[in-house]
Amino acid sequence: MNKSTTAPRSVPVVARTPEELTRLRAGLGRLALVPTMGALHDGHRRLIATAREHADSVMVSVFVNPLQFGPNEDYDRYPRDLDADLAACAEEGVDAVFAPGVEMMYPGEQIVTVNSGQMGQVFEGEFRPGFFEGVLTVVGKLFNLVRPDIAVFGQKDAQQLAVVRRMVRDLCMPVTIVASATVRDQDGLATSSRNAYLSAEERESALALSRALLAGADASVTGPVGILSAARAVLDEAAVAEAPVVVDYLALVDPQTFTEVPGDYRGDAVLAVAARVGRTRLIDNVPLTL
Ligand code: PAF
Repeated sequence: MNKSTTAPRSVPVVARTPEELTRLRAGLGRLALVPTMGALHDGHRRLIATAREHADSVMVSVFVNPLQFGPNEDYDRYPRDLDADLAACAEEGVDAVFAPGVEMMYPGEQIVTVNSGQMGQVFEGEFRPGFFEGVLTVVGKLFNLVRPDIAVFGQKDAQQLAVVRRMVRDLCMPVTIVASATVRDQDGLATSSRNAYLSAEERESALALSRALLAGADASVTGPVGILSAARAVLDEAAVAEAPVVVDYLALVDPQTFTEVPGDYRGDAVLAVAARVGRTRLIDNVPLTL
């Protein structure tokens, strides 16, 4: 995280219970919420900056949501360091942090959940069954608890952004969803808390994801078939690297519905990729206009 350019500021107020949150919320005016699972990096800093453009106050929620992790996923080893997150929030001038415990968010069995429908069962939803149900359920809870006017989500998680937008629309939630552009490290890798798991060799291989997206974007005048084959060529090469890139999916989709676009498509699209490098699963995407 690039800390050198940001001066330290006062530590944000932290709420851990609904009562503390209600008291805090009362003084925050028009509020933008940035939901996170902590391990804050430059991508989150961009979300916070976007949030500040849209509201009087900014709240960051920090909660590693067990409901969105599958049984063989990294819930236990997911990085957790609230002090470091609070320091990052202080540097970014965040007004308040909501950091509930698991018992607060899930006091008993979660019987009622938010179903993401078909759009949450493809791509990420196919490889991570139950993931979007977990995301939507916790985001719905956060919206009910915090009552933000605006909530900011990263374009990096394009399918998550699309299903959250759809939930807000279909369930008439009084919150405006704002998207924030993907932040990349200098080598092109999209920032993610999971990048910390990569060895140097794996990281080198992982760069194939952003290279593939760039190759696809460069081929955008050729249409969907040309875009996908340009991106696929880069990934095929990376599949035989020392630390191989194992692709889960590469697809060109409609950004609103996450359905694949036909060969003669014209309009906005998202070229999305997911792959595993060693034990780390990475996703990335680039928005395109065809
Ligand atoms: O994108 C994330 O970090 C999580 O999926 C979110 C939106 C905070 C829900 O747990």
